Amino acid sequence: MSGVGPSDFSRFHLALIPPETLELIRSRLDIVELVGEYVPLTRAGRNMKARCPFHQERSPSFIVSPERQTFHCFGCGEGGDAFSFVMKSESLSFMEAAEKLALRAGVKIEADRELGPADKERIRIREANEFAALHYHELLKKDAAAESARAYAAKRHLSKASVEGFLLGFAPRNGTLVGAATKKGFTADLLVKSGLAAKRADGSLRDYFFDRFMFPIRDVKGAFVGFGGRTLGDGEPKYLNTAETPAFSKSKVLYGLYEGLAETRKARKAHLMEGYMDVIASHQHGLKTACAPLGTALTPEHALLIKRYADAVAIVFDADNAGQNAAVRGAETALESGLTTRVASVPEGKDPDEFLHAKGLAAFQAALNEAQDLVAFKTELLIKRVGELTPEAKSAIAKDVMSTIVRCPDEILKDEWVRRLASRLGLNEESLRRSGGKLIPQSARRQTVASAPAPGSTAVKAAVLPVGDLQLLGVLFKTPASASEVLTSDLESASAREIVAALCALPLEGKWGPRLLDALQPAERAVASRLLGDELGYDDPDIYLRALLGKRRMQRRVKEIEPFVVSGKDPGLRDEYHRLVAQLKGTKR
Ligand code: CTP
Ligand code: MN
Repeated sequence: MSGVGPSDFSRFHLALIPPETLELIRSRLDIVELVGEYVPLTRAGRNMKARCPFHQERSPSFIVSPERQTFHCFGCGEGGDAFSFVMKSESLSFMEAAEKLALRAGVKIEADRELGPADKERIRIREANEFAALHYHELLKKDAAAESARAYAAKRHLSKASVEGFLLGFAPRNGTLVGAATKKGFTADLLVKSGLAAKRADGSLRDYFFDRFMFPIRDVKGAFVGFGGRTLGDGEPKYLNTAETPAFSKSKVLYGLYEGLAETRKARKAHLMEGYMDVIASHQHGLKTACAPLGTALTPEHALLIKRYADAVAIVFDADNAGQNAAVRGAETALESGLTTRVASVPEGKDPDEFLHAKGLAAFQAALNEAQDLVAFKTELLIKRVGELTPEAKSAIAKDVMSTIVRCPDEILKDEWVRRLASRLGLNEESLRRSGGKLIPQSARRQTVASAPAPGSTAVKAAVLPVGDLQLLGVLFKTPASASEVLTSDLESASAREIVAALCALPLEGKWGPRLLDALQPAERAVASRLLGDELGYDDPDIYLRALLGKRRMQRRVKEIEPFVVSGKDPGLRDEYHRLVAQLKGTKR
């Protein structure tokens, strides 16, 4: 159990870092030096390049700019400054990355002075919850009134390590928390705000949780933010959870994520379950990548949280109808946020908790190995439910599954799924695609791409690119090895960026033209194909490309600083402005 004790709680007291401090940290760091400690960099003109540490690639498309103190990968699109680099490389939050870089830069973060009243309250609420967790935990272990709760823990197969690691506890019928917390200096107002106490009609306080088995909920940094409390018997509700407080929002916390964070980070994979007991049983059996929402469907916030530590998620739910529907919904949310998503069901109508205690980890792993991707899972589920595949049923299933497919941000995956769905249902791929095209909300549809026609279809509309981008691509195709010189910000259109990214990711020996076309979406492919075919010659395309890039960057900078110079707000920029304008005049062709 990676259960970090409450004694190191003080490190969660970090608050907002003043912008001046961030600036100071930034000014003392060199991103080239920093990144160089993670990947070997080689010079590429004014920039440095490397093979991207964030995705697999054979030729370098990861660029570090000493001038801008930024990085960018044309292959996977990651980019940012020193802070985002450290966050991404080490799966850290902004605060954690800032702490690390502050240390490196020799800057002291003095956050406390910057705390506003709302921050202070949040911290105090967490302290109250931590106090309560320890209080309930001690009662479970030692109190005479907790005999039934200890018996319950034994009946549910909870090991000592689980009780300690998850700091499980007991809130007795005659609650003692309010009294103990008040003695410790927590005010009545704060205890109510923390969700730990409720006011009686006469204004006096009582414990909010009583006669319940207590599951403290910790956020991903380990701070205690709330509780789930289970009845020991058949009382209703089965689980009582902390209501929303300034420190706690159900839609943002996953139970067990903190306790298994090291393993999840390492595996880059999470197992998403339904309940508290499922998570604990999994951890207890050694599967520490298990976590669960708190009785709600998976939210986009949950998915983003997981994405910080994992690339893939397996949704593990009970095999009943409700469980499967919830699994599909959760999986769609995960899919939409770009997580590789699998769905596994637990056999024999059991939940993971029951199954693990009955059959053990190996049998559970075997069930997990049967996990299907969401589209396959949903397709099979719907087919099973209709019984007979009539034309109407096929059409209904096709539409339902297409509504999932269109939510996937990965175009290549989408394409493959449509192919599979068509073959599974014995339908025409083209008509499936057309029906899917209608499902994509207009706003989400990329402007330049006609609704994703099939590769090879004759009706492909070429993406429409700004003239500047076309010119740049035209030159670049004559000197493709320079692709890594081009920054995202040098290009105006998403289509041009995709083409350059594809070019960067390509081994350039031999006939690279056809391979580039293969790697592109139809709309971009049409543009690239036209440009590749054009016969324009350049004496020295590499020099011309550099000149073109230089000019574009100057133009952009002029546009950027013009308002400040014109308004006289920043006279320091005047010299730079006039120099650039003069230079641009000189380079006009
Ligand atoms: N839940 C809840 N409120 C309820 C019932 C359930 O918040 N009244 C949430 C809890 O987070 C619970 C999860 O939904 O863990 C799954 O519920 P369920 O399957 O009913 O409970 P189990 O986790 O299986 O708990 P147990 O094994 O103790 O019955
Ligand atoms: Mn259960």
